[in-house]
Amino acid sequence: MKDQTISTEQEIIRLLKKKSRSYLSGQTLSKSFGLSRTAIWKHINAIKEMGYFIEASPAKGYRLNLDNLPFNAFEISSNLKTSFIGKDISFYKDTGSTNDAARAFAIKGAREGFAVVADSQTKGKGRLGRSWESPAGVNIYTSIVLRPSIMPLFAPQLTLVSAVAVAEAISKYSQKTPEVKWPNDILINSKKVAGILTEMNSETDRINFVIIGIGVNINMTRKMFPEELRPIATSLKEEIGKEISRIDFIQTLYLNLETWYKRYLKHGFEPIRRAWTGYFTMAGRVVKVRQMDKAIVGVAMGIDDNGELLLREKSGNITRIISGDVEI
Ligand code: BTN
Repeated sequence: MKDQTISTEQEIIRLLKKKSRSYLSGQTLSKSFGLSRTAIWKHINAIKEMGYFIEASPAKGYRLNLDNLPFNAFEISSNLKTSFIGKDISFYKDTGSTNDAARAFAIKGAREGFAVVADSQTKGKGRLGRSWESPAGVNIYTSIVLRPSIMPLFAPQLTLVSAVAVAEAISKYSQKTPEVKWPNDILINSKKVAGILTEMNSETDRINFVIIGIGVNINMTRKMFPEELRPIATSLKEEIGKEISRIDFIQTLYLNLETWYKRYLKHGFEPIRRAWTGYFTMAGRVVKVRQMDKAIVGVAMGIDDNGELLLREKSGNITRIISGDVEI
């Protein structure tokens, strides 16, 4: 279901936010909007339906609880510091996959930076045909449309651009520095906290659009993970011991993504390679890379100028890995 916010309600929310320390009287509101007190009261009820907590006192009026704002497009857009990422948002309480929704918008011409956000997904997709746990009310599921003027063969670098943006956002909240696992996992304490699914629509030598799908486990509790994921997956809340505002996190994420993406378009992959390497703690460790038809074992050495994983095999040969799944 698409979340539809109505501008009178948004205006009332804005006024309530300004006055959040004291009450805003029904009379002031009805004067400001030229509406009856009953009409205002109906709008207040609609705002409550949207998930806002409003105290109503017959003598004093209305007061908004700022500590408990709902996760919706209006809140994500308020004070968002980006110039194009997340400037247009389509928000869903529930959707199949935000990547699929974003692709449909991109095909219809959504501009660069267009973002889909969902509170929950029924068919959250991971890499290599896996599924992505997407319960409601706790995490971030977002997909962003990009239209870079780069050759399709460089598109996988955008996963690493996004990984740096996600790792940097996590660092703002976590004392423990996150680690990246090539190509798309972000870990804390060796457990996966976020993943990126990059999908592309292109011609042989030209990208039409790329969808960057990002899932971050924010406030999910250990119990909410299926048992088989508990040893390998985690959430920010589990790691740092406190709830994090999803609104705050997604705003940070969009700003980081925009900054790193602009840097990439301007300066190429080198600054990304350096930043990514700073989060890559697996260098020097023996890993197994599973590919479609084989598995290669070797010592992970880092990434090359293109973002491909370098593996030193027992024979001493250095192999470049373009795609695969890394296991330690
Ligand atoms: C992975 O680690 O395998 C990638 C996980 C990507 C999950 C996100 S959640 C938002 C977006 N929509 C999806 O269906 N998948 C990505």
